[in-house]
Amino acid sequence: MHELVRLQSTDAADLHDFLTRADLTLSGLDAPSVRLWLLRDRDGRVQGSTGFELSGDGRHALVRSVAVDPDRRGQGLGLRLAQFALTQARRESAERAWLFSRRSGPFWRRLGFEPADRAVMAEVLAGTHQVKLFRRTGQLEDEVAWSRALDDLSAPEELLRERATLDAGTP
Ligand SMILES: CC(C)(COP(=O)(O)OP(=O)(O)OC[C@H]1O[C@@H](n2cnc3c(N)ncnc32)[C@H](O)[C@@H]1OP(=O)(O)O)[C@@H](O)C(=O)NCCC(=O)NCCS
Repeated sequence: MHELVRLQSTDAADLHDFLTRADLTLSGLDAPSVRLWLLRDRDGRVQGSTGFELSGDGRHALVRSVAVDPDRRGQGLGLRLAQFALTQARRESAERAWLFSRRSGPFWRRLGFEPADRAVMAEVLAGTHQVKLFRRTGQLEDEVAWSRALDDLSAPEELLRERATLDAGTP
């Protein structure tokens, strides 16, 4: 069975390995403000991950940890995983989604993201692990910020359909 499931403490090591291979940030994976999901194949191998971290006031979501196994890329899975995170963030009442991406701008544009002001992003998401890490290491200055409003996203009922689509689309 292929299912996108909310991260459990027993998944932590697998997620850590998967994100390391995808060259993505590992900070704060177990923080309460961070929401993460894993997609596994029928043998339990991680095929994808997705998630976000909410700002302290809950109005902003920092999309993070969106990754697909290299053998499964180019089949639309990344878009569905990212869309899932956006829908979940909206469901938690976030009004705007943000992310850092230096390499995958065209991918995020497909999901309605536009280039954004890095300083504004760092301010509204100042408490998040990724922003704190990037400030501490100086990486913030090299990052590219992207953003989109969430008010035109699916209603919660459609979220359930999105999940069904995601499950059905991973043979
Ligand atoms: C980015 C990533 C999640 C995309 O996953 P994927 O399953 O291959 O993406 P999809 O098949 O849904 O791609 C959808 C579209 O985006 C494009 N796209 C995918 N990855 C892209 C990238 N890195 N840069 C530019 N465009 C990209 C695809 O070509 C496709 O466009 P098309 O339909 O016109 O051909 C995957 O490449 C990955 O895991 N990368 C490493 C981790 C990472 O960088 N994550 C993003 C930062 S959080």
